[in-house]
Amino acid sequence: MAMLIPDELIEEIRINNDIVDVISEYVKLERKGQYMFGLCPFHKEKTPSFSVTPSRQMFRCFGCDKGGNVFHFIMNMENLDFIEAVRLLADRARIQLPEGESEEEKKVTFIKQEIMKINVETARFFHNQLNSTKGEKARNYLKERKIAENTIRKFGMGYSTEEWDSLYKFLLSKGFNEEAIKESGLIIPNKSGGYFDRFRGRVIFPIFDLRGNVIGFGGRIMTAAKTNSSGYQDPKYMNSPETLVYNKGKTLYALNYAKNSGEKSLIIVEGYMDVISLHQSGIINAVASLGTALTESQGRVLKKYAEEIIICYDADLAGQAATMRGLDLLSDIGCNVKVLSIPDGKDPDEFIKKNGQAAFGNLLSGALSLIEYKIKVLKSEIDLTTTEGKIKFLNKTADVLTKVDNRLEREMNIKKLAKDYDISEEAIYTEVMKRTKPKNIIKKNVIDIQNYKTNKGIINLNGNEESKLIHLERMLLVFLCMDNSVYRFIKEKINLDYFHEENRQIASIVLDKLDNNKGIVAAELLNVIGTEAANEYARIIQDECNFEDNKKAVLDILKKIELSKLEKRQKEILEMLSSKNVVIEGVVEKLKAELKMILQKKKGL
Ligand code: GTP
Ligand code: MN
Repeated sequence: MAMLIPDELIEEIRINNDIVDVISEYVKLERKGQYMFGLCPFHKEKTPSFSVTPSRQMFRCFGCDKGGNVFHFIMNMENLDFIEAVRLLADRARIQLPEGESEEEKKVTFIKQEIMKINVETARFFHNQLNSTKGEKARNYLKERKIAENTIRKFGMGYSTEEWDSLYKFLLSKGFNEEAIKESGLIIPNKSGGYFDRFRGRVIFPIFDLRGNVIGFGGRIMTAAKTNSSGYQDPKYMNSPETLVYNKGKTLYALNYAKNSGEKSLIIVEGYMDVISLHQSGIINAVASLGTALTESQGRVLKKYAEEIIICYDADLAGQAATMRGLDLLSDIGCNVKVLSIPDGKDPDEFIKKNGQAAFGNLLSGALSLIEYKIKVLKSEIDLTTTEGKIKFLNKTADVLTKVDNRLEREMNIKKLAKDYDISEEAIYTEVMKRTKPKNIIKKNVIDIQNYKTNKGIINLNGNEESKLIHLERMLLVFLCMDNSVYRFIKEKINLDYFHEENRQIASIVLDKLDNNKGIVAAELLNVIGTEAANEYARIIQDECNFEDNKKAVLDILKKIELSKLEKRQKEILEMLSSKNVVIEGVVEKLKAELKMILQKKKGL
């Protein structure tokens, strides 16, 4: 499959996806000279060490060593293989991939489009029913829950009647085929081979994606949980199943509105009604994870739109557990997280309706930081009146504090803790230090040069002569890409055999382009390598290949390579001469002669 996309097209796709534009969809970047800087999306950090170089169309993080071109960014970010990343970026640049989609893929694309149309029609259908005579009960329910007319419109709320198949019939009458309707998740097969509507007798909440397209639905019964005629209890809420267009783990309800709130934080709550009430009361930076556990994808989306995430889940046990999980997940991907607890076991919807926006604002300003929250939980779990309890508390607190990588923040917390709990600062400090490992300064230096998808052939570059050579060859290839004009000065001295096996695939591409006057740039070189190798190449390109005079640099590298080769041979000869096994007539003399020549050559370099 990989080979079906020609190099030139891959390069065209790369060129048409400006790396700054693409990365800006995930990371806030700020310009500093010829670089743009931001907080690395691949590791946790508080000061930016993630750099993008527009002129080179490359990214590199000085903290976690990830780097590459726009393809590697997408591969790392979206967890895709090379071909999937190419597809995504081709789509983004509206470039048609030539091999054409397979029949299967064409069908999937068609059904996706149909589902999107079905969703729009369905949202209209439900909304119209809410406003019709059939919808009176639902309108009354929403009125009772203090939902205003314009809120109903803003969130496109609707009503599904108790009828078994009114939506199904409506969609058929609109000309949609049965398969597409089935794939939309809006109908469920019955025992006699027909279908019935998934949502019946419910208030409907359309679920939107970031651009405001309807991708799914939620529906709430209008009573407390009830038992239906077959003895089953109707769930309070029902949601669309996952479909080709609806991915629960990636969706955040109301983010299409909240992302434009202009606030520096986003508040994440559990339910539809919580979000809707908050928005209605003017808190328009609220989103909901819709009762499911927060996922890393959702976390990354949140991080993209806010400097700070405030978790505001229900106070029940499930909510507390979800809060802890959410805190860890978000802080692990580098978000600033806070926790807002609603008093008296209320949910945000109940609280704001009872107490109003200002009271909610007060709660917000008292939201706890991650550490404060975790310590508060520890305090509630451990009996601090006993010595044993105090020691346990000290230990667990130190565990929490150890994870804070900002020194000032850590120290402030230690002071506060010492004061609040009457423990000596030193005692806390000692416990924290015990747990802090020295920073790992040995950099992992691994490389691969294999095909598109894998990272085979990883070799260790620490130290030995062989790996230095491999590294120098890579620098040489990079220089040739950064400055094609240098090639003519060294053309006679290098060919494919000049390179180590590990570098030959890349070398063949570079030499082929240069021999045929096609031209190649450094970012293009990266098109053919996997993410691990890209990290290494990005480091070479960004850190090691910045010289005034490229020609001189390349000639120097050639010299170093030659020297290194001579040294390697010299070592071999010396070893052979010193081992007493060289008995064959004349061999010793030959080796000695070669050695002499090597020493001469080295002098000449
Ligand atoms: P209200 O009772 O209408 O105020 O609901 P809520 O928004 O306070 O919801 P709750 O805290 O009970 O649940 C939070 C979210 O979890 C809801 O918005 C739903 O998305 C989801 N949820 C709740 N109950 C169910 C259920 O029975 N089934 C499913 N699938 N999801 C549910
Ligand atoms: Mn509620």
